[in-house]
Amino acid sequence: MPGHISDERIPNNVDLGGDKRLQRALERWQPDFIDWWMDMGPEGFQVKDIYLRTAISVESGGWAHFDYVRMPEYRWGIFLEPRKEDRVIGFGDEMGKPVWQEVPGEYRNMLRRIIVTQADTEPASVEQQRLLGQTAPSLYDLRNLFQVNVEEGRHLWAMVYLLHSYFGRDGREEAEELLDRRSGDEDHPRILQAFNWPITDWLHFFCFTMFTDRDGKFQLGALAESAFDPLARTTRFMLTEEAHHLFVGDTGLNRVVRRTAELMRQHGDDGVRAAGGIPLDLIQRYINLWYSLSLDLFGGEISSNAADFFATGLKGRWKEDRYEEHTGLGQSYTMNKVEDGRLIEEDVPMRNAMNEVLRDAYVADCMKGLARWNKSLVKAGLSDQLTLPDRKFHRQIGIYADMHFSPTGDLIDEATFEKHASSWLPTDEDQAYVASLMKPVYEPGKMASWIAPPLRGINGRDIEFEYVRL
Ligand SMILES: [Fe+2]
Ligand SMILES: [Fe+2]
Repeated sequence: MPGHISDERIPNNVDLGGDKRLQRALERWQPDFIDWWMDMGPEGFQVKDIYLRTAISVESGGWAHFDYVRMPEYRWGIFLEPRKEDRVIGFGDEMGKPVWQEVPGEYRNMLRRIIVTQADTEPASVEQQRLLGQTAPSLYDLRNLFQVNVEEGRHLWAMVYLLHSYFGRDGREEAEELLDRRSGDEDHPRILQAFNWPITDWLHFFCFTMFTDRDGKFQLGALAESAFDPLARTTRFMLTEEAHHLFVGDTGLNRVVRRTAELMRQHGDDGVRAAGGIPLDLIQRYINLWYSLSLDLFGGEISSNAADFFATGLKGRWKEDRYEEHTGLGQSYTMNKVEDGRLIEEDVPMRNAMNEVLRDAYVADCMKGLARWNKSLVKAGLSDQLTLPDRKFHRQIGIYADMHFSPTGDLIDEATFEKHASSWLPTDEDQAYVASLMKPVYEPGKMASWIAPPLRGINGRDIEFEYVRL
């Protein structure tokens, strides 16, 4: 019910009470989830009151409720967009047929892998960020960190619901595994590499929420088109929450840039460090790192898996509706490849290029963020600009993985790359410097020296509002 938090143990809009077996299975998983949250969730703030948003329904306008809550008492619920009775498959070989309410046997393994891979990123990011609360630049930022963390927890619930209700015993086993893997663990790591790096400072955090969460946006968007209707309806609602995570990253970086610009004007380029700010070239190196790590998450440029996902209707394109043609047959995608030591163009069948098509949508979205930050620099009267590196730069996955490219996309040899690496990617000194700035600021309304205040507070509250009661 909108505006009302249900008193069930697991808040939901899927009539969980009507399926006792499923309800019992999820109620058995719940204490394991809480144990995981206590072990691996934000360290040091579990008994504090935090001004958080909780999803209580899927009604637009009334879906969220804001109040003080202690994180372990957060009401993690299961919410799917309402079912549209006449929804049909929008792309691929089965286009026009009714969407599936159950998992077709022949796609069971593929779908389970897609869901588990998405699900694994949710707890992983909470683990990566668990120490950041100790160095938050303001109470506003501290609250935003925890908001992101609890919602990633809810996204895990969303995926575990699908595993439990549609994949039987293997689904339940996968749900257990999701609480067993650990970000960065040598023997039992998270599935995707970008989710095994610890997020040790807030510049990493803002880059992560800007670039890595944004990969999530596009993956969820592609799954929101899926022929497996429960997956489409789940991911659609997850995107509503995800928008705030991207906001945290985008505006967080913009505030860092604004502060740096202010200090550059007052003290000159070389005075930024002495004034406790983060130099622009260092910000650029962090951008280069997280953008390239996040590009890898889209997978290989030429992929038969991607072709299968599209053909079968499991995974569409970003906003499939905006395309005129939905089979992807008889079309090609022109891609840059390296042959005999030089870059050439090659046409690849469209379906095999679907990862690259999704990556294109992502790149365009990232550019918008860059444009906003560059506007802040112009507004401050500076001629410096930030850039996104070429998509071939610093890649570990796909057709550019075993080669070296400059940030402008020139093919170079390893020695040249190594020679420039310290001006292209964060160095140990960069990270040590950023770490030296990471001192908590917990007084309401106050900001650390390296970041500008936000333009406004959360949910109509002032910037000075006590977002976390310490
Ligand atoms: Fe998420
Ligand atoms: Fe997220």
